[in-house]
Amino acid sequence: MIPALMPTYNRADLAFERGEGAWLYTADGRRFLDFGSGIATTSIGHAHPHLVKTIQEQAAKVMHVSNLYRVPQAEQLAARHVAASFADSVFFCNSGAEANEGMIKAVRKYHAENGHPEKFHMICFEGAFHGRTLATLSATGNEKYLAGFGPPVQGFDHVPFGNMNAVRDAIGPQTAGIMIEPIQGEGGVRPADLRFLRELRAVCDEFGLLLALDEVQTGMGRSGKLWAHEWAGIEPDVMSAAKGIGGGFPLGAILAKEHVAKYLKPGTHGTTYGGNPLACSAGNAVLDVVLAPGFLDQVDRVARHLWKGMASIADKHPTVASGVRGAGMLIGLQLTPEVLNTDLQAAAAAEGLLTVAAGQNVLRVAPPLIITEAEADAAVEMLERAARRLTPARAKEAAK
Ligand SMILES: Cc1ncc(COP(=O)(O)O)c(C=O)c1O
Repeated sequence: MIPALMPTYNRADLAFERGEGAWLYTADGRRFLDFGSGIATTSIGHAHPHLVKTIQEQAAKVMHVSNLYRVPQAEQLAARHVAASFADSVFFCNSGAEANEGMIKAVRKYHAENGHPEKFHMICFEGAFHGRTLATLSATGNEKYLAGFGPPVQGFDHVPFGNMNAVRDAIGPQTAGIMIEPIQGEGGVRPADLRFLRELRAVCDEFGLLLALDEVQTGMGRSGKLWAHEWAGIEPDVMSAAKGIGGGFPLGAILAKEHVAKYLKPGTHGTTYGGNPLACSAGNAVLDVVLAPGFLDQVDRVARHLWKGMASIADKHPTVASGVRGAGMLIGLQLTPEVLNTDLQAAAAAEGLLTVAAGQNVLRVAPPLIITEAEADAAVEMLERAARRLTPARAKEAAK
């Protein structure tokens, strides 16, 4: 019989009763170091006192009023995001896919309003992940995810990640913009070359295209800077965000420059829940923590420490892992063909460490940004024990 909860996921047989910081606890008292953060989402850890208090207080006042009225918490959060980023204006929604859907609409609208409705194509990248709605699945372009859902939404042209010649070749009279994750998260923690990101900015300027960044996974301090594109010293025209900006409370956002945002007038785009008082209070509480002086420096410092530890696993267990990649607290351990990432993920969980599998046989760690060096060390030790368990029999034989 079908479970009452629709079986869209292969879930691990683990249920958590509570969390504190980087730790999750089951009802029977087992504790796990959560280096998956609910897929890079619980950015300031579980049960962060400031986030909890803010949500509790706001919930007791008013949670939702709709966008028919002013929402001071949303106005404040938008103003703070504008002050801290390239953006001039922000639209709030509920998830990453919804943010991307709106971002795609914003890019199309910009060209339509500028007299070019034929320009509605986005250049996207192989290995991308932009979400599960029809348009964002089409932007993702993964045949496996699209199968069975009818024709994809038109207007998404895929080229190999990092290939500037392919990007230039794909630009045509219908091209409206380029959509890219600064680091492909689901696709295997693959960072775009910073030079490639700069070249994309230049090619957008050359051809009058919009640069649309998907920072759903890479944003909100995950890379060690507030937004990952800051490492490249570029600014997009429009950007999507979600995951970490709500710290576990569902919140998405489109951040845009004025030349894009000005066409999203009343009636062009909307959402019932998006930007409600409760969600935006959570967003403000997360920003209080992430923008506190020294916080991102600390993230960068601990991330580098964690990176070294992860790299040592690849050094010590070359039959299991061949290297690390990513940025900040989004780190991928590239596994060898002998070891499956889901097997190492299960072995790590058995040691008490939660991680997330990613494409290209990569094991992804995306801990909360508040971890200490001691927690990073503990995670590396658990991962090392897991790697030792999985060392292929062949390699064990050879080592004898
Ligand atoms: C880069 C990126 N974009 C979009 C999404 C979709 O976000 P959501 O699951 O909140 O719709 C994800 C989710 O993993 C993501 O990693």
